[in-house]
Amino acid sequence: MEIIDGKTLATDIRGNLKLEVQELKYKGIIPNLAVILVGEDKPSQIYVKNKSKACLEIGIKYEEFLLDRNIKMEQLLSLIDTLNEREDIHGILLQSPMPKHLNSDEAFERISPKKDVDGFNPVNVGKLCLKQDGFVSCTPAGIMKMFEKYNISLEGKNAVVLGRSNIVGKPMSLCLLNKDSTVTICHSKTQNLSEITKNADIIVVALGKPKFLTKDMIKEGAVVIDVGINRIENGIIGDVDFESVKEIASYITPVPGGVGPMTIAMLMQNVVKAAKNTLENSKQTCTILAK
Ligand code: GUN
Repeated sequence: MEIIDGKTLATDIRGNLKLEVQELKYKGIIPNLAVILVGEDKPSQIYVKNKSKACLEIGIKYEEFLLDRNIKMEQLLSLIDTLNEREDIHGILLQSPMPKHLNSDEAFERISPKKDVDGFNPVNVGKLCLKQDGFVSCTPAGIMKMFEKYNISLEGKNAVVLGRSNIVGKPMSLCLLNKDSTVTICHSKTQNLSEITKNADIIVVALGKPKFLTKDMIKEGAVVIDVGINRIENGIIGDVDFESVKEIASYITPVPGGVGPMTIAMLMQNVVKAAKNTLENSKQTCTILAK
């Protein structure tokens, strides 16, 4: 059994991004991420803080917009419009969950697909579905990097995704399908779950249920990816019963130190990509003008 070390891999990626950002700065571009946080959701505050720290370390500019929890939808959309227009901002991230009275689908759709570094806009979801280049949701993107780094082949493999969220489960399934896995998506209404998971070569668990996946639910040699971040008194635990599952898995991600750091690294990568795209676009404009 090998433990997939997301922390070290994420540190390497961040190191490379730092160099890329320096190069971009020579070309006159400072990647800039705008983060919108509505209300005072505690976990969201922690996520946002971690994202800001990563930006600082890499040299990405970071602007935070903290909005009152009672803000009206029109005000939120108007802020997004302003950020879409600003040429010095390359990425826009709207932290979820948002207060119930706000329509998060409408808000994510309003973010320009070119600045949608979370990959939540329907245009980017559609591109992923069609296997076209776009922004891919950061957690699935980070998990795909892990497979690549550890030479875990996906072609023809039975991949089972537990959870069907728009942020993780659905895009994860598309990523695996795009790499020719045979994908099954399971959710709260799935019947005979263990029969399905026991047949999996690769299992991604994104349910938000502490220690949900146990040793008796998987086959020997399965690759187990744990997306869970469940807060307990003295830290966080995953959706996988790590101690028992590690005895028979071939690869397993720990919590903490697995998927979490990769999510942030992929967000940083998407911001750098968005900034680079503006450079490409301005080159094209120059060529057209020169003709
Ligand atoms: N809430 C939990 N994870 C995420 C994420 O990756 N992006 C955003 N915007 N909100 C989240």
